[in-house]
This record gives sequence, structure tokens and C-alpha cells, in this order.
Amino acid sequence: MGLFRRAAVCVIATVLVILFEVIFWDMSIELASTKVESLSHFRPNYTDALSKTILFFEGQRSGKLPPDQRMNWRSDSAIDDGQSIGVDLSGGYYDAGDNVKFGFPLAYTTTLLAWSTLEFSHMMGDEAKNAHAAIRWGTDYLLKASSQIDDNILHVQVGDTYSDHSCWQRPEDMDTLRTVATITASKPGSEVAAETAAALAASSLIFKSLDRDYSQLLLNRAIQVFEFADKYRGSYNDSVGYFACPFYCDFAGYLDELLWGALWLYKATGNEKYWNYVSTNLEWIEYDNPGEFGWDDKHAGIYVLIFKKLIQEDPSNHSIQKASTFSCLIMPESPNRIVEYSPGGLIYKSATNMQNVASLSFLLLVFSRYLESSSRTVRCGEITIQPSRLVQVARSQADYILGKNPQNMSYMTGYGDRFPQRVHHRGSSLPSVRSMPEKILCNGPESIQMKTKPNPNILVGAIVGGPNLTDVYTDDRDFFVQTEPTTYVNAPMVGVFAYFSHLQKNV
Ligand SMILES: *[C@@H]1O[C@H](CO)[C@@H](O)[C@H](O)[C@H]1NC(C)=O
Ligand SMILES: *[C@@H]1O[C@H](CO)[C@@H](O)[C@H](O)[C@H]1NC(C)=O
Ligand SMILES: *[C@@H]1O[C@H](CO)[C@@H](O)[C@H](O)[C@H]1NC(C)=O
Ligand SMILES: *[C@@H]1O[C@H](CO)[C@@H](O)[C@H](O)[C@H]1NC(C)=O
Ligand SMILES: *[C@@H]1O[C@H](CO)[C@@H](O)[C@H](O)[C@H]1NC(C)=O
Repeated sequence: MGLFRRAAVCVIATVLVILFEVIFWDMSIELASTKVESLSHFRPNYTDALSKTILFFEGQRSGKLPPDQRMNWRSDSAIDDGQSIGVDLSGGYYDAGDNVKFGFPLAYTTTLLAWSTLEFSHMMGDEAKNAHAAIRWGTDYLLKASSQIDDNILHVQVGDTYSDHSCWQRPEDMDTLRTVATITASKPGSEVAAETAAALAASSLIFKSLDRDYSQLLLNRAIQVFEFADKYRGSYNDSVGYFACPFYCDFAGYLDELLWGALWLYKATGNEKYWNYVSTNLEWIEYDNPGEFGWDDKHAGIYVLIFKKLIQEDPSNHSIQKASTFSCLIMPESPNRIVEYSPGGLIYKSATNMQNVASLSFLLLVFSRYLESSSRTVRCGEITIQPSRLVQVARSQADYILGKNPQNMSYMTGYGDRFPQRVHHRGSSLPSVRSMPEKILCNGPESIQMKTKPNPNILVGAIVGGPNLTDVYTDDRDFFVQTEPTTYVNAPMVGVFAYFSHLQKNV
């Protein structure tokens, strides 16, 4: 099944009343019409949530699995990826419930895992090493995908989406087409290349103190891939075509990724030439801020990173306001709010919604910390919002995911007592190769037998697409907008859960 993204947003008519709670651990959100009982005994275990959020990535691994693989119902898969073109492209992550390796969201996932870890690794305890492994599984693959960058070649996808989506089959048995999509100087893809550069650069910062050679390798490659992205401009929509789009079309254009890539390169190299690139070209994204942040749209992430730099060096510069403007589009009490909130308090932007919840929560949390350390607040119209309020909203989203919602249900698989049973995920929904070593054919009898049954293998940590605007969730595997997990939902939640787990340990 596919993933698609709708940007349509309409403004909620309901008047929101927010109850500011003195006690941080017991927040409830009240809307004019619906009161959500504050579950006073709701005590999420954020440490558990953090470790499961990271563990999920092991379930998405492609390629030869290492001896320390913990998600042990999975086995090696797609180890011949790339062989058809004479390149080793094994490894990396399946993006979601299918078995395709989409380069654009894979790179974004890696960037966000690295950003989560950069901000919060000191709050992760023992989980930091698992976060590093999750990043490295992404970067090892991105290094392979970019191994021919000297010749202006970047591999941006493995797996024919149409062939893959027509088959309900475990990745271990896959016999669908593993076609490789590639961008070149004459068939460019600046968004996917610049996001790949961002991922490599951000990750190089993680490994700087852990493995210097590896870090240097990532950084050198990031520089080359960015140069390629910038020099040969164009969208992979056009170069790769139907293969990647309509699944991961670049709706927001590639200029945001060029700025984003340059910003991460600036952070990783300290080279002013990258900052100058951002500074001179910032006008590229001067149009109305859409209040989006995700694999397609980096605007808000750019504004938050720029805030951090300008607040120290050029605090009177107007570009500082961009991050506040963004948060005013999100905060419930803001007169400029454009996102909706469900009666139960969930941020709602579009179908396959949890990706918005996760990346916006992460960004609010990171921004709150940048505000806090510069003693700033956010001004939305007549309202002044404190950094702690941004934290509170991020926490309300984390809690909603973990079960503080009208369904009393955790939307993270394997967390809590009640969680989705029919996650839209091929491997998780079919018997494991450990219990059934015989090959399961494409749409074989097993897939029909299992159609409505609970998943036999728990994809621990998978956060699903989530409920609709009225907090209703349908545990139906075919309803993929609600039941499918993706790597780019979990990546920012790694940072969010790390922060709250640290706070919980220190109350
Ligand atoms: C939270 O979860 C962690 C990891 O699963 C566990 O070790 C810990 O005991 C749990 N804490 C509480 C208070 O239940
Ligand atoms: C990519 O394709 C989508 C869908 O056709 C289109 O809306 C979008 O404008 C395209 N993006 C670019 C940068 O060409
Ligand atoms: C503010 O900073 C941005 C980013 O560096 C830069 O593009 C812009 O020219 C600056 N504006 C002023 C008025 O200095
Ligand atoms: C959720 O829990 C609350 C409080 O315990 C209860 O009032 C409500 O009926 C429960 N809702 C569902 C759908 O189980
Ligand atoms: C949410 O799903 C339920 C059950 O299908 C439906 O009754 C309700 O209208 C949906 N809400 C929205 C806003 O679509």
C-alpha cells in the first residue's frame, strides 16, 4: 500500500480553552464542547517508550542482519539489492509497511535520528548506543548509495513500488522487482541529494567523538553530495518519475532541502561558505510559512536552526521571528493557529497524521530549548507564550500516543496493555521465517489466511498513522492511513521521548 500526503488544512471553528495546569504531570486539555477527563493516574513510562521507539528501527532493517539484532523474528532480506547494476546497495531501511527503500524519506529519517540524538543523547542513558546503531544503519546505506558520487551518480531508491505494492510478502522472501532508481547530472534530484547530504553531515557530528574516521568519511561524502545537489538542480519528480512519485513526490520543491543541507554542512564543518549560502539564499523560502515539517518540507526546521545561530550573533535580525511565526501556527491558544486539534488533544493536519504530530512535537521541543537558553518567549498576536508551554504541548502529544486519549489506547505497538493489533506491515503480519521457514509466495494462502488476524510478530515500537480528527482509530490492516507505521514518525519521537524520560527520572 502506498503512502501519500495531503497538505490540506482548514481552521478549526471550535474555541479552544486551555487549562494551564500548575502540576506538570497532570495536564488536561479542554475544548468548548468536549471534555477529556484528565487521567490522573496516567503515568507513561517514557524510558520504555524511548527504548521501543529505537527498537522499531531493527524491524525495518533491510540487508544482512547483525548478530546483535534484537527484533529476532526478522531475518536477512534483499541482500542482493543493487546487484542488477553491479553495485552493493544492501542494507538501509524499508520506509514503512512495504519493502521498498525510498531514498528521500530514508535520508530524512536519518537526519532526524541524528538531530534527535544531537539534542538529547545526554538524556538517553543506555539507549544512546542503540540510537547510534540506528543512525549507522542509515548512514552505512547512504554511503553505499553515494559511492559513485565522483561520477555524479546517486542511487535514490531500491524496489519497484508498483511491483512491491501488488504483493503481500515478507521481505525475507521477496521476489518483486528490486529495480534501482538513480539520479545523475542529466537527471538530477536536488531534494533527495541535498537531504542525503544533510543526513550524512548531521550524522558526522554524532560520530565525531565515537569513531573519528567514520565521522570524517560521512562529512567528506556529505560535502560531495551537496555539491552535486546544488550544481545539478532539478526535482527527482521529473528524473525518477512515477517510480517515486506519487509515493514520495516532492511537493514543497527542492530549494528548502538545499538550504537545509547547507545548514547541516555549516554545523558539521563550521565553514562560513555554507552559512553564506544559507544567508544569501534565504529568500528562496520567504513565502508564507505553511506550518509544516516533515520529509517533504524543511521550512520550519530551517527557521529553528537559524534562530539558534542568529539569536547569538544578530539578535535584531528579522529572520529570528520565523521560528516564532511557525510555532504560532501550531500552538493551541495562538490566534494564528492553522493546525487542528482533535477533541482528545491530538494535533491534526492530514491523513497519515502521526508524521505531523511527531515532527511538530520534536520541533516545538527543540525550539523551546533554544528559546529558554536565550531567555526569549514567543509572541502570537496579543498572546505571550512561554517556552515551558511549548514543552507542555509536545508532552501532550507524546502522552496521547502512549495512551492518554479517548480510546485509552497506545498508538505505539508493544507499549502498554492496549495497542494496535493489525499494523499494516508485511513482515509483522505474516508468520516469521523462524516459525515458518518455507517461502511465502506473493499473495500466497498465508496472506489471505492472516488478512484479518492480529499480527503474529509484534513490531515493537511502531507508531501507527493514528486516529482521525475525532479520535477514532480503526484497527484494520487495509486502512493503511491509520495502521501503517513509518520510520519518519519514530525518528523525531526518539528525541521527544529521550527528553521526557530524562525529566521523569529527575522529578
Ligand atoms: C520503565 O520501563 C523500563 C524499561 O522497560 C523498566 O526498566 C522500568 O522498570 C520501568 N519503570 C517503571 C516505573 O515501571
Ligand atoms: C512533484 O510532483 C508533484 C505531484 O505531481 C507536484 O505537485 C510537485 O509540484 C512536483 N514538485 C516539483 C519540485 O516539481
Ligand atoms: C538576517 O539574517 C539572514 C540570514 O543570515 C540574512 O539573509 C539577512 O540578510 C539578514 N537581514 C539583515 C537585515 O541583516
Ligand atoms: C477510557 O478511560 C476513561 C477513564 O477511565 C473512561 O471513562 C472511558 O470510558 C474509557 N474509554 C474507552 C473507549 O474505553
Ligand atoms: C472518524 O472515524 C469515525 C469512524 O469511521 C467516523 O464516524 C468519523 O466521522 C470520523 N471523523 C472524521 C472527522 O472523519
